[in-house]
Amino acid sequence: MLYGAGEEMDIKTAVFPVAGFGTRMLPATKAIPKEMITLINKPLIQYAVEEVIDAGIERIIFITGRTKKALEDHFDINVELNQQLESAGKTDLLYDMKRISEMVDIIYVRQKYMLGLGNAICCVQDIVKNEPFAVILPDDIILSKTPVTKQLIECYNKVERPVVSLMPVAKNETSKYGIVEIKEQVDTRLSRLKDMVEKPASNPPSNMAIIGRYILTSEVLSALSKIDKGAGGELQLTDALKYTAKYYDVYGYEFEGKRFDCGTKQGLLEATINFAYADNLLAETLKDTVASLNL
Ligand code: G1P
Repeated sequence: MLYGAGEEMDIKTAVFPVAGFGTRMLPATKAIPKEMITLINKPLIQYAVEEVIDAGIERIIFITGRTKKALEDHFDINVELNQQLESAGKTDLLYDMKRISEMVDIIYVRQKYMLGLGNAICCVQDIVKNEPFAVILPDDIILSKTPVTKQLIECYNKVERPVVSLMPVAKNETSKYGIVEIKEQVDTRLSRLKDMVEKPASNPPSNMAIIGRYILTSEVLSALSKIDKGAGGELQLTDALKYTAKYYDVYGYEFEGKRFDCGTKQGLLEATINFAYADNLLAETLKDTVASLNL
């Protein structure tokens, strides 16, 4: 057990590092945060927030930076808009707008310097204290029956150790991800990890990549204070997990679902097509459009 008898271990907090610039999606991200880019009719961040709410999360911490005001506004109440919808009798839309602002408690923390994902996670130390928490990278949008955060929480409840989400990738793609080395397969999807490397330039230890969903514990936070800067001169979360795995068990879970990297044009296009296909009303439009292209 990581915690004393009677201590709360449920995962109730999710941390969203959202301070990055989103240079891969310029010019869309020149004036709006990359998390506000829309997939069908909702900003990416809303998919990720809805995912964690469906997983039972009650508190969200956004680690933001400059130019992220639109994110705060999106989850705030827009009194004038609500009044206008109400007087126009647009009750469905009004319900949707209220639901967004009342969804969940959000805490905003500023990451002052862009020193990497590991540095962003360090910013929540004083808020989460010893509590385990989920981390969501909202560029990674995942279409699944069970929210991936929920899949990971279920694993955490069994093992009470850090759990990272895993997905097999093509050998020539391994340099884009944190790549793990598996020590032991616990069951079909769950494995105990031996090691991990952030964006290996050569000799990746496997083709299993870490995707942007994690359950972290206080051991990983204290590892972040002990490690040096890694790939790209940044403090890397993968390196903190590697350090933690030397002393404690760290697990990987090959999640059920289809993941899209919505921080790239290709990934956003794939996500748009897949989400449209999964939507009863849009599937017909998608089929007609594809048929008319005579591919
Ligand atoms: C981050 C992590 C990396 C992980 C990836 C998943 O990298 O550092 O380990 O594989 O997210 O999307 P980024 O894509 O932010 O450079």
